[in-house]
Amino acid sequence: MLRAFCRLRSGLTTCNNKTSHRAFSTTITNFSEQQQQHGEKPKQMLTENERQILDPMIRVDQSGEVGAYYIYMGQIAVLGRDKKLRPILQEMWDQEKHHLETFDKLVGDMRVRPSLLRPLWEVAGFAVGAGTALMGKEAAMACTEAVETVIGNHYDDQLRSLVQLTEKNPELKDLGKTIAQFRDEELEHHDIAVEHDARQAPFHSALKAVIMQGCKTAIWVAERV
Ligand SMILES: [Fe+2]
Ligand SMILES: [Fe+2]
Repeated sequence: MLRAFCRLRSGLTTCNNKTSHRAFSTTITNFSEQQQQHGEKPKQMLTENERQILDPMIRVDQSGEVGAYYIYMGQIAVLGRDKKLRPILQEMWDQEKHHLETFDKLVGDMRVRPSLLRPLWEVAGFAVGAGTALMGKEAAMACTEAVETVIGNHYDDQLRSLVQLTEKNPELKDLGKTIAQFRDEELEHHDIAVEHDARQAPFHSALKAVIMQGCKTAIWVAERV
């Protein structure tokens, strides 16, 4: 399983760059220097209040999308040969890739410090995805149901915060639209999982509760670290 993780991970473009904090700092330094040289207004000038709200918001969203991306990678590593399930998992994985690329870009554009724990989110995501898939298709779907429930609610909470910010800074409307779109897609993933027998998984209630609590804990940590 570890070999599968490393092989799949090494094939990624999204996750081979921007992963280290040092590399990120270098990128931002270069970005600022280039802007100064060209006399450009820095992108997304934020007030102190906006930054206090948006920094942890973007950091945790990027981390959540890292986790989601690797969960689907883990599920496909185990269940990828299932002809019925593969296209369903692949479509959701492709959407997670787009979510992750979007937040990777937002972290750079908005000069947000990324989570220092990205390698942990990658390994934990893969382990949860592959681990539940090894328990069976229904458990894999129960994992998706649990994760997408938490992420959907989390994006909803963020959209409520953004309504107030957007009234004062209309430039943040695009961020709200992005999060609303991703929220809708996460909820579609949730519905797909339920349609594919998530609730037939062994120990469904306990499994869902444990994964949801793990996601909530990860959100709390990723906002801060
Ligand atoms: Fe996502
Ligand atoms: Fe999702």
